[in-house]
Amino acid sequence: MSMKRVLSAIQPTGRAHLGNYVGAIQNWVKLQHEHECYFFIADLHALTTAYENTQNISEDTFQLAVDLLAAGLDPQKCVLFRQSDVTEHAELHLIFSMFTPLGWLERVPSYKDKKEELKGRDLNTYGFLGYPLLQAADILLYKADYVPVGRDQLAHLELTREVGRRFNHLYRPVFPECKELLTEVPFLPGTDGRKMSKSYGNTLPLSDPIEKTHKTVLAMMTDPARKRRTDPGDPAKCPVFTYHQIFTPNDKQAELAQGCRSAGIGCIDCKKVLLEHMDQHFAAYRQRRKDFESNPDQVARILTQGAERARKVAHSTLTEVKSALKLT
Ligand code: TRP
Ligand code: SF4
Repeated sequence: MSMKRVLSAIQPTGRAHLGNYVGAIQNWVKLQHEHECYFFIADLHALTTAYENTQNISEDTFQLAVDLLAAGLDPQKCVLFRQSDVTEHAELHLIFSMFTPLGWLERVPSYKDKKEELKGRDLNTYGFLGYPLLQAADILLYKADYVPVGRDQLAHLELTREVGRRFNHLYRPVFPECKELLTEVPFLPGTDGRKMSKSYGNTLPLSDPIEKTHKTVLAMMTDPARKRRTDPGDPAKCPVFTYHQIFTPNDKQAELAQGCRSAGIGCIDCKKVLLEHMDQHFAAYRQRRKDFESNPDQVARILTQGAERARKVAHSTLTEVKSALKLT
């Protein structure tokens, strides 16, 4: 059985939160032991929406690198780098842009959706339309077999396969077909019960100090039917319980659910149990975060070395691409 190549990325827009952790980061940590993995911080992608306000990208990139390393990504086990450090991403994106029909990009659902979501900003740009094409370049540059993503990214992978096929057809076969590695994660609600999202301000940033995390969890929304301590609740209608399902052992979960339904326990007690288990889960993360945060040179070195390793693969693909295009 040969090692499959895995590639994924995350954008440095603000701090990574619990949704990112449960939905992606935790899975990456596991995958690094099973496959040849390339993980990167997509700072060029961040530019597509933050082009007017670029001053935070570098700090966000650093903090994201700290989060990834603290969560357990091991630079001996995976290649971790910053997208803009490997200029081949931009070069392949440019080459792809020559033969990608505008219609393919215009009909990617996230294009209209995100433009609607970020209405206040002018996203009538060439770069924003090309966002998924840059992602296609990211993936094809490494000839990735598997791309771990959430459902919202499936259209981007479909486009990636179409672009690869078009290249192979126009010039010669260079690119294999990538497959998604759908991360089937429990939907993790935000602190107010809606989808966890930076734009709703309902996230739990991983890097929050422990006291802050406690405060946020203690203020979380619960089953709205439990107005008083004596009202019975329904765990299925409570975002706190979704977190229990991730962090609290099964037997304890069952006990809490029972206590909730019978009004035997209060929400504060229930949340305190959750915090105990979350604190346990993130103890190693918190320690490592402290170490990396106070050692920015080490983080920079890890990213530089990661970029060097990534560039080897990227350069070799680009050489093949240029030769297929007869640009030699
Ligand atoms: N678009 C992805 C997201 O928003 C991030 C991303 C950029 C990505 N390049 C990628 C994911 C390549 C997988 C592969 O989550
Ligand atoms: Fe939610 Fe727990 Fe309160 Fe029930 S007891 S409503 S599960 S916080």
